[in-house]
Amino acid sequence: MKNRVIVTGGAGYIGSHTAVELAQSGYTPVLLDNFSNSTPAALDGLREILGFEPEFEQVDCADKSALFAAMEHIASRGTVEGIIHFAAFKAVGESTQEPLKYYANNVASTVHLLEAAAHFNLTEFVFSSSCTVYGQPEHIPVDEEAPIRRAESPYGYTKQACERILADFCASGYPMKAALLRYFNPIGAHPSSKIGELPLGHPNNLIPYLTQAAAGLRDPLTVFGNDYPTPDGTCIRDYIHVMDLARAHVAALQWLKNQPPTCEPFNLGTGQGNSVLEVIQAFERATGVAVPHAIGARRPGDVTAIFADATKAQNVLGWTSEKTLEEALLDAWNWQQALNN
Ligand code: WQD
Repeated sequence: MKNRVIVTGGAGYIGSHTAVELAQSGYTPVLLDNFSNSTPAALDGLREILGFEPEFEQVDCADKSALFAAMEHIASRGTVEGIIHFAAFKAVGESTQEPLKYYANNVASTVHLLEAAAHFNLTEFVFSSSCTVYGQPEHIPVDEEAPIRRAESPYGYTKQACERILADFCASGYPMKAALLRYFNPIGAHPSSKIGELPLGHPNNLIPYLTQAAAGLRDPLTVFGNDYPTPDGTCIRDYIHVMDLARAHVAALQWLKNQPPTCEPFNLGTGQGNSVLEVIQAFERATGVAVPHAIGARRPGDVTAIFADATKAQNVLGWTSEKTLEEALLDAWNWQQALNN
């Protein structure tokens, strides 16, 4: 198999959608996952879309010896082009209650993967980072020059720490080429509705809760505060279709191939901000389905507004988002209905 690319967290939300884009761009995804925040069923849908059985290793990337064993196994089957590292815990609220779980998993997995990359002479590394590294930005839209401010949560700090670990490793003499992809708010699902966001338990993020409330599976959506200094009082975010985000990972891999050793951040957003109420209205327009909701208290740690200046990804990677908020919300709703059936 040619152009094999390791995808850690490959059974997860962004990882599985990126595996689809990789396959459609001539790469062969090699999935690593320990199902700590996904299920084997996620691979069923991915298998259907890919049309072949993807290489898969069930492994915890934070377990160094298990990771090296899996990497030996992968290397024995042929060469590897690079690594895309998604595997991490990502619930902001949970991270404040269980910080050690987040540091042990998110930071250790990145360190062990870089140790493995050096051992197996891999020099291309795409890291799943987040706009959360900016904290509450002073100016929006936020570009990659914006200061890295105090993280609002241990989750956010693990992203800052991993970016720093990558920067130090890339400057250490090992010829590593890394892209730090800072996602804004990924939403939606593959148009086939065979894969999507599988929140296990109570959803932390807006869209999975919204679609479950619209489906009558949950209590009405609580809008976390409408007294923010924004036009309608609710928080503003940059919601980007997960398929646009997946495409950016392929663009980053292609870009890294021709680079000298580097460690480069890229904001991946639409460049447009929408409030929570605007998202609810867009969902109702796109689907014709009402979202039962009520205004509630603010959620600690939420920033008032953040959305991307994504011109660097456009100028350097030749990538821009293409899908609209309505398309993403309709794909999210179709996925929710597929899950219900
Ligand atoms: C979005 C908006 C909430 C739920 C976090 C991480 C980021 C990334 C995405 C992992 C906010 C409001 C939400 C609800 C609501 N992490 N909301 N009612 O907090 O912007 O970003 O998740 O991938 O790194 O920081 O995303 O979806 O939780 O919230 O009103 O029931 O929706 O207040 O304004 P967030 P979110």
